[in-house]
Amino acid sequence: MTKKIIVLGNGGREHAICFALSRSPQKPEIWNIATSINPGIKSLGVHIELVKSLEDFESIKIVAKKIEATLIIPGPEAPLAQGISDFCSELEIPCFGPTKKCAQLESSKSWTRNILRNNGVADACPDYLVSTELDDEQRKEFFEKRKGQIVVKADGLLGGKGVIVAGDHFETFEEADAFAQKSIEKFGRVVLEEKLIGIEFSLLSVVDGKTVLDFRACQDHKRVGESDTGPQTGGMGVISDETGSLPFLTPNDLELAHDITVRSMKAVEKETGETFIGIMYGGFIATSKGVQLIEYNVRFGDPEALNILSTLETDFVDICEAACEKDLQRIAQIECTPTATVQKYLCAPGYPDAPEKGVSIDFPETWNRDHAEVFFAGVAEKEGQLISTGGRVLGIVGFGKNLTEANMYCEKMIAKIKSDLFHRSDIGTETLTNERKKTMQSLRAEF
Ligand code: AMP
Ligand code: GLY
Repeated sequence: MTKKIIVLGNGGREHAICFALSRSPQKPEIWNIATSINPGIKSLGVHIELVKSLEDFESIKIVAKKIEATLIIPGPEAPLAQGISDFCSELEIPCFGPTKKCAQLESSKSWTRNILRNNGVADACPDYLVSTELDDEQRKEFFEKRKGQIVVKADGLLGGKGVIVAGDHFETFEEADAFAQKSIEKFGRVVLEEKLIGIEFSLLSVVDGKTVLDFRACQDHKRVGESDTGPQTGGMGVISDETGSLPFLTPNDLELAHDITVRSMKAVEKETGETFIGIMYGGFIATSKGVQLIEYNVRFGDPEALNILSTLETDFVDICEAACEKDLQRIAQIECTPTATVQKYLCAPGYPDAPEKGVSIDFPETWNRDHAEVFFAGVAEKEGQLISTGGRVLGIVGFGKNLTEANMYCEKMIAKIKSDLFHRSDIGTETLTNERKKTMQSLRAEF
């Protein structure tokens, strides 16, 4: 019987998910429930159903029942935080994603820090304070004790705008506290954390309560400008080297990160009584004191998914189904092609504050797919012309025997696309990689 798989969402990440499904030897029928048509997803021969919102579960149910869906894969966090997985359970359709309770791992920073501290994962977390009162002296004490070197985190989903960092976004206590008070007004709580110094990386794992299988480790570049300058974005580009790791990480760093995810998965189950199924996307930081956890997300990263899923060799359908059946142990490990990947988003002028819409894009009909893959994000097709509809428009992944070659192919592909979109040319270069290696060497020397 043909498998019928629904993917929720229509950005670059969801294009990468559909791409991985389309390469499955099981040849599933793929359906995309979307708020607009993604031309890249459409070009894969995916059936598209438009809805007003991905949180409109009744509309999703109508499609799922109509096609007799065998699996649902939510792309973004919002439907998971709203309980799409619990809703799918009622419909008796497997969902590759955690329940609402487990999804708090992303949607509530205070819940996450507290359950990790209470279940033996405190060693992987910075010092923190949860504050609930608008008038709370403890926040000032926390700020002063750490000489202002803190991070303030809103306790709910704010689409990438929920964290402010000392030095980047504020200097004084008053500035930090204005943000903290806004979070208390909106979510009832705020989290203050010690600011960690080190190099960040992402390790995404698929989990089923018993087994944790890691994808290739990678690193996002969040700042809009070259050399990590300018405002934070959703992510401008991601790299991963030919070993499936990063040049500044040791195998021990990845083992530590894996172990934090194993312990955190167990902590979630102990706390909620429910098994976490789906993606645990750890945002880690390698510091002079070892690997620490910055945050968890409960879905694929965007752009991380573009690097991970374009080089995936293990059958993605099998990975998702095995997780839903709590039988991930049947997959020994996740295999990917032994190539480096350099991914960059082409973005609309004005991104991230006010991205221009309607920028026209001339796109080549063919290119060598052994060297590059292209994923569509904020882009639509109007009378045969591709135009931008969002900030991050096209995600280009270059493949190569090392990061330098992967970057060359990524840039070559970008040069074939005629538009006014911009990207970060420094991502994946030897200069930036060497800088990171040097920073990490001096941090390790401090240890
Ligand atoms: P977001 O992805 O919007 O939650 O932003 C999180 C970003 O804030 C991370 O990528 C880090 O750069 C930064 N961040 C969060 N927590 C800390 C921390 N404790 N120390 C240093 N940086 C942090
Ligand atoms: N790469 C950032 C995110 O997906 O949240």
